[in-house]
This record gives sequence, structure tokens and C-alpha cells, in this order.
Amino acid sequence: MLSSRRILLIIGGGIAAYKSLDLIRRLRERGASVRVVMTAAAQHFVTPLAAGSIAGERVYTDLFSQADEFDIGHIRLARDCDLVVVAPATADLMAKVAQGLANDLASTVLLATDRPVLMAPAMNPRMWAHPATRRNVAALERDGVAWVGPNEGEMAESGERGVGRMAEPLEIVAAIERRLAVGGDKPLRGRRVLVTSGPTHEPIDPVRYVANRSSGKQGHAIAAAAAAAGAEVVLVSGPVALPDPPGVATVRVETAREMLAAVEKALPVDAAVFAAAVADWRVDNAGQQKLKKGANGPPVLTLVENPDILATIAHRKSNRPTLVVGFAAETERVLEHAKEKLARKGCDWIVANDVSIESGVMGGDRNTVHLVTRDGVESWPTQSKEDVARGLVARIAAALEGKR
Ligand code: C5P
Repeated sequence: MLSSRRILLIIGGGIAAYKSLDLIRRLRERGASVRVVMTAAAQHFVTPLAAGSIAGERVYTDLFSQADEFDIGHIRLARDCDLVVVAPATADLMAKVAQGLANDLASTVLLATDRPVLMAPAMNPRMWAHPATRRNVAALERDGVAWVGPNEGEMAESGERGVGRMAEPLEIVAAIERRLAVGGDKPLRGRRVLVTSGPTHEPIDPVRYVANRSSGKQGHAIAAAAAAAGAEVVLVSGPVALPDPPGVATVRVETAREMLAAVEKALPVDAAVFAAAVADWRVDNAGQQKLKKGANGPPVLTLVENPDILATIAHRKSNRPTLVVGFAAETERVLEHAKEKLARKGCDWIVANDVSIESGVMGGDRNTVHLVTRDGVESWPTQSKEDVARGLVARIAAALEGKR
């Protein structure tokens, strides 16, 4: 039931707009109030009079209408609701929102809203598959937009088959109910997420160790963002100078072997993000006592390989997390190495970043990452590590939702 829930329905200009009239009816049957915004293109397919009659209130169409602005104003329109639903979401409207354009009422409302947004795309299969639309979908997902559909089937206008049909009204209602019940801004509620973070310290003797420059900022930000999204989070962290993120169960470890043990103890989880910069080698002949200078000259340290935690977990037969995400810190040929790593480590995604000294990523507050999946590469703009974390968490929530 959706009693007393307020839905702002934005109808875009596509043939599927006729189904949005039925969507309004279904929502009202369940007790929701529906306020409707229509684009100019939408009005070629259905009339504001029809939509308004079913919604039981007037429909908003014009950004520059004095009457509309006086009545409610586009900012209040954008915020006086529990959820914004865009159905049909056309390629054009999605592109506008992905770019942050605001040149009509629908796009302005979508830019001004602070409410969760659910989109039901509808377009020709080629338009849906076009790289430009793929980029826009990825950008919108990063901004927290949730999806319902599109479905596969026959296109109304051309008889072509493929993915692009708008989800049916009852499917959209179910997605709305899920989105509101799940808490809207808590897309990871009910999920368990594991994150590794920081460097590891590999002892040379009781007072010396081998380490690296990882600060743990990115991994800790991911753990915090996952917790903010409602997940139950276990953070396994090497030695860092950061406070434990609030609402996260933090396990502090020193070495790679301790990290692996803590990670295995945290299973099963829905998603695991391996952001730690684990030392590749440890000292095989670490001194039990502090090594002393002596007549024999400096000690010779023998290194042995550490377990690869990411590959070990990604290759597990039982209790493998649904989604395994690795990081690739590279100083050169970043994407090439990341793609190779995705295959070799058996993980689902690699977040690749350039950590060459000139990039300033190590220890810095900003990050430029590329998300490498089996479907391709997305290059994200340079942003704060918190924003990278939020973007990644939104993608994880969407991916888990798809596999529910
Ligand atoms: O091979 P490389 O160290 O570049 O791979 C980086 C990814 O593998 C990161 O996700 C890191 O957390 C993970 N890793 C690991 N255990 C290791 C080495 C790397 O989990 N021993």
C-alpha cells in the first residue's frame, strides 16, 4: 500500500506515455497522491486534461507560467513528494538530466529535487544501446537514480524487437513500493558489505616493517558510504591514522595474512570491496629480536609472496560474495593493467586509479578512477574520495538490486 505517499510523476514524450495514465490510476488505487509534470513532447501523446482527470489535480507543464509559479513554484514541486518517478524516461530527458540541463519544467524539477528518483526508460532498442545513452545511464546511476526496466519486447512504433519497452505500470508500482519501503536513500538496507582499507605492515623485526604509502582514505570512505546507504559493514583495515568510521564494525590488522583471516571471518557478504594496498611480499626471515648492526654487514632480507586476498575470495567455490570489487593502483598504462587484472583475479569489477607521484592520489583527498567491468570502461571525473565512494556504493546497490 502507498497510502499518503506522495509521488511526483514526470511524463516524458514517448509513445509509452499512454501507459503512464494507467500508472496514475494504479498508484491512486493504492492510496498514493500523484502530482503530474508533463514535458512539451509528452503532450503530443497524452493530454494534460486526461492525466489531470485521473490524477485528480491539475497537471504542471510550464516553467514560465506565472499561474503555476504562483500556485506552487518549481522548487516546491521538486521537493513536496516522497519520490520522483520519470515514466517514460526518454533518451532526451535522461541526457538532459545526466548533463544537469534545466531548460523546461521537467528537467528543472529533476535538477532541483532532493528526493530519490526512479526512472522507467522507454526508447528504441538502438537508442538504448547507443554509447551515449550507456554513458548517461552510468552517470545517472552514480547520481543515485534507480531504474525499472526497460523490458525486452516489440516496439510499438516500428515493430522492432529488443530492449527498450517501458516497464508495465504494475512493475513500476512494485518498484515504487520497493523504493519507498527500502527507505529510498538506504538502497543497501539488509545487505552486508565488506571493505578492506589501508596498507599492511610486514615486519622485518619487532620494531621495523615494510609498508606503502596508502592512507586508507578511499577504503574508509567506501565503508562509511556503504553504512550511510543502510548496509551492515565490516571494515578490515591495516594500520592507518584515520578514525574508525561511525556505524561500521572495524577490524584492525597489521599484516596481509591477518587481513586475509579477518576477511574470511567476515563472510558471507553480499559485496566485497578490496581497497587495501596489501603488501605483495613479506619478509621470510623476519628477526624475532631487533636486528643489530654488526661485523657481518647489513642483513639480507628474503621476501616471500603474500596471499592475494582479492583473488582468494573471488575464486572461492562457497560463500563467494555476489559482487567482488578490486582496486588497481597503477603508475602507468592504467586501463590495460586493470583489464588484465579483472581477468586474472576473477573479480567482477576493478576500480582503476593512477597513483603515479604526479597524480597526487596517494594520501590526497581527490581521486580519478575508471570503473572497469566486463561490459567496458567508465572514466569518472576527478572528484573527492567521498564522492567516488558514494558513486561506487550507488553502483553496487544497483547491481545487487538487479541480482536480487
Ligand atoms: O595486484 P595488485 O596488488 O595491483 O591488485 C590490487 C587489488 O588486489 C586490490 O584490490 C588489492 O586490495 C588486492 N590485493 C589483495 N591481496 C594482495 C594484493 C592485492 O587483496 N596480496
